[in-house]
Amino acid sequence: MSNILEVKKLTKKYKDGDIEVTALDNVSFSLPEGFDLAILGPSGSGKTTLLQLAGGLDTMTSGDVIISGQSIKNMSDSDISDFRNQTMGFIFQMINLHDFFTAKENVMLPMLVAGVDRAEAEEKALKLLEKVGLSPRANHLPKQLSGGEQQRVAVARALANDPKIIFADEPTGKLDKANSKLVIDILENLSHENGMSVVMITHDENIAKRFSRVIKLENGSVKK
Ligand SMILES: Nc1ncnc2c1ncn2[C@@H]1O[C@H](COP(=O)(O)OP(=O)(O)O)[C@@H](O)[C@H]1O
Ligand SMILES: [Mg+2]
Repeated sequence: MSNILEVKKLTKKYKDGDIEVTALDNVSFSLPEGFDLAILGPSGSGKTTLLQLAGGLDTMTSGDVIISGQSIKNMSDSDISDFRNQTMGFIFQMINLHDFFTAKENVMLPMLVAGVDRAEAEEKALKLLEKVGLSPRANHLPKQLSGGEQQRVAVARALANDPKIIFADEPTGKLDKANSKLVIDILENLSHENGMSVVMITHDENIAKRFSRVIKLENGSVKK
């Protein structure tokens, strides 16, 4: 079985003047295609840093990240953006929908960026909104939606280009119990239904338990 994600001796140091913080220290693990992974750890343990590096959103100090067989280490900014758009989906705690676009338009955006034609993008966006239970809200603006509904739009948007891997950073951190459950159920089903891999940060052991693999971070290292 091939790996969707390989993290190899990944190290990240942040430098602020004279002060150096080692946020990740020699982290290695791999995730086979179609499996889901929860990353657990206390605040400050390096979870967000790990997710940002794995998704090519920030640069590593040393080590490597291989996604779907391709090293992202030396990709140019434009290559990594294209690769992200085609291969990965992201969901963050801060939801980041575009305020002036409707739910449907927010979901269409990554497809339009990828060159999908408008009618096709619209049809797919409506299907994805249906999947997250938001068909009746397709034409609403983010401010007309609850936090839980906005996050479900973000989930639909992350799925727009049929990514091989979804990265989610505490996606339920700001949601109530019912909406958290909905979002986790959707994410969990993805790997089972579509063979998509999900990497999710959480500090909730009960959520982590539902994932097929769990790694624990502590002070920037994987805890054995
Ligand atoms: N941009 C940055 N500049 C300096 N230090 C940072 C930066 N981002 C994160 N850190 C530090 O790196 C460590 C890990 O942070 P982070 O990955 O955000 O942890 P987590 O997501 O587990 O709470 C922390 O000590 C944090 O203060
Ligand atoms: Mg974090």
